Amino acid sequence: SIETTIFNKKFSNCLMNASGVKCMTIEELSNLKNSESGTWITKSCTLSPREGNPSPRYVDLKLGSINSMGLPNLGFEFYLDYVLTEHEMGNDNLFFSIAGLTLENNIKMLTQIENSDFQGLVELNLSCPNIPGKPQTGYDFERTEEVLKKVFSFYTKPLGVKLPPYFDMVHFEMIAEIINKYPIQFVTCINSIGNALYIEDESVVIKPKSGFGGLGGAYVKPTALANVRMFYKLLRKNISIIGCGGVETGRDVFEHILCGASMVQVGTQLMKDDVKIFSKLSSDLKEIMKSKNYTSLSDFKGKLKEL
Ligand code: DHB
Repeated sequence: SIETTIFNKKFSNCLMNASGVKCMTIEELSNLKNSESGTWITKSCTLSPREGNPSPRYVDLKLGSINSMGLPNLGFEFYLDYVLTEHEMGNDNLFFSIAGLTLENNIKMLTQIENSDFQGLVELNLSCPNIPGKPQTGYDFERTEEVLKKVFSFYTKPLGVKLPPYFDMVHFEMIAEIINKYPIQFVTCINSIGNALYIEDESVVIKPKSGFGGLGGAYVKPTALANVRMFYKLLRKNISIIGCGGVETGRDVFEHILCGASMVQVGTQLMKDDVKIFSKLSSDLKEIMKSKNYTSLSDFKGKLKEL
């Protein structure tokens, strides 16, 4: 089977959407719920609803995608209502993404979640690259520590963080040392490679930020695998890794798990193929496992061979 566990929650399937993809409206969230994915996550929300950046703001590329959505979302209350409705229907196996524009707003949202009946998993997004003038928290180590210190001064429910990609061994060690100090249950890596520039003929392809946007898809897979692998090695063993980046095939899912991922998210390819991608990825992963005589993810999770 391809079942997996994050914190105290069992999932029959190790696949889910990457936050932001097909998870903003009730209709999109229902489609995810009714899909072959093991679970799903809501669009990163802010305290107040947002329209996001001007279009075109997402473009499919041959080898991936570029986006500068700018956090369009229906606002915290909408998503809190949504996850509480799921709770009332008996489902606590889902993820709630929050991405406040300020630390104060993250604290406001987490305080409401703490005081609610929500029993799912929160993914605190420290890595949105698309708000003009707002640096990504995950690239500022002092700020990251300040956020986690404040959050865990009151928050007691299971929480994970969504991280940007890192590219330097010392940076991996620095962020891992901070995360290891706090009762974090999971780390999701990676968010898009921020502020890439794609050109067609003589022009940029997205309108916001003069064409600069987050890169996803096949372009980012080796960076994603490096981040999953490094955090698998450096973090406390009771922190689960959720892999995200460049998943197009069952083979890509297999590689994320080999690097140490317990769950694998799909972004760009979910945009391209919609929720039917989950059936394809599940059957392809099962096929690969069968050919290797693996019966569960634990047979190969983290067991990447080094030379
Ligand atoms: C957006 C993009 C991200 O990569 C993210 O983590 C959050 C929000 C966006 O542009 O909407």
